[in-house]
Amino acid sequence: MDRKEFIRLAGASAGMALIASCFQSCSSDDADPNTPTNVDFTLDISTGQLATPGGFVVQNRVIVARVNSTDFVAVSAACTHQGTTVQFQPSQNRFNCPNHNSNFNLNGTVINGPATRPLTQFQTSLSGNTLRVFS
Ligand code: FES
Repeated sequence: MDRKEFIRLAGASAGMALIASCFQSCSSDDADPNTPTNVDFTLDISTGQLATPGGFVVQNRVIVARVNSTDFVAVSAACTHQGTTVQFQPSQNRFNCPNHNSNFNLNGTVINGPATRPLTQFQTSLSGNTLRVFS
């Protein structure tokens, strides 16, 4: 192998390594770094914001809202645009980002941007006054 061929092959190998690396780390399927993982915690709904419909709390980077007397929803709290913590707007039945006014449905889907990606929805289950929020 002459010097010219060696340089050509080395360049091609480096290019392939760069492409492979990008496929591993640049994938659009990568998890949002603001989205909490392995969520599993409980809240006491007998007192505080969750004691009444329309109330909400943010815990462990999850926003938990009481939609009505029996239903709760939980989604990732960080706006998918630039990470501002969203708020529950009970009169609109949606989550709003106060930074640039993105709105999200109760299941986290985008109503309007600038955010384009949904909030991650988490499961809830109520047992007595204990609300479990989990992935
Ligand atoms: S940070 Fe939420 S809309 Fe921009």
